[in-house]
Amino acid sequence: MSGWMSSAVALGLLASSGVSASAEEVLNIYTSREPGLIKPILDEFTKETGVKVNTIFLSNGLEERVRSEGQNSPADVILTVDIGRLQAAKDYGVTQPVKSAALEKVIPAAYRDPEGHWYGVSMRARVVYASKDRVKQDKITYEELANPKWKGKVCIRSGQHLYNISLFAAVIAHKGEAKAEEWLKGLKANLAKKPSGGDREQAKDILAGVCDIGIGNTYYVSLMRNGKDEEQKKWGEAINVILPTFEGGGTHVNISGLALAKYAPNKANAEKFMEYMVSDDAQHLHAEANSEYPVKQGIKIHPTIASFGELKADTVAIAEIAKLRKKASELVDKVGFDQ
Ligand SMILES: [Fe+2]
Repeated sequence: MSGWMSSAVALGLLASSGVSASAEEVLNIYTSREPGLIKPILDEFTKETGVKVNTIFLSNGLEERVRSEGQNSPADVILTVDIGRLQAAKDYGVTQPVKSAALEKVIPAAYRDPEGHWYGVSMRARVVYASKDRVKQDKITYEELANPKWKGKVCIRSGQHLYNISLFAAVIAHKGEAKAEEWLKGLKANLAKKPSGGDREQAKDILAGVCDIGIGNTYYVSLMRNGKDEEQKKWGEAINVILPTFEGGGTHVNISGLALAKYAPNKANAEKFMEYMVSDDAQHLHAEANSEYPVKQGIKIHPTIASFGELKADTVAIAEIAKLRKKASELVDKVGFDQ
């Protein structure tokens, strides 16, 4: 039987399955990842371990859902994107720490919670989309985005979107709050239009000549160029990706990651799955399917992502960035970024 069910059906089955010593081994994953993209990984895990995987897919409100289910939550593992959401899960108290030598060996300390509440399994970089026609430079710093040379030429989605909040939090980590505020004002002064749309729309606006550079995540470029939508292909082809760096630092990355649910009914299977996710096979399958960077060294990268050049990820720990997100959100309001 397929592990892919609507959440209502899955919950019904879980509720009626009861618990007995002879019950088949199961694992319940709550995820915001596209089911079709992670299915090959879950199938492989089942093949290797015999553990049947049920998934509940919720693109939004996943952490809230686990919280509202409380002690009766069937969730074993939470698999989601962005530190904002992983940290929210921890802050809601719906996770528990995992201590695993296997996870600690593979995942650099910068990409996991010091207390073991969440672990990054792949990374996405927040980069510059640059017009192929109008931008000749192939290097840029995040600092330069606030330089008046780009006045009226920059496009970006809402400053309050969680991807931008994490980027701005990284700016605070590097520059301190006062300089970050100055930078944010400079960036706002360079905008071609009010922040709007998603990351893909910034590429669309570049093609349309509205702006010369946009800010977006790496995987969207792969989704646009390799997807079925002919319009989006044109957006993706209109831009070059420049991996920006901080002065004296690297490129801002965020993570997709895993957490063990606080009341996980199948804890041993959950830990087995978390460790499976850092195996070479899973690292490759997961990063390739989502056009992300594997956290494990030496794993092959999706060709579109590899074509952007070598990623030198910034070394500020994701947990530090998480702590500065609230400050970043306040700065966005303070400078009227979205107005
Ligand atoms: Fe996204």
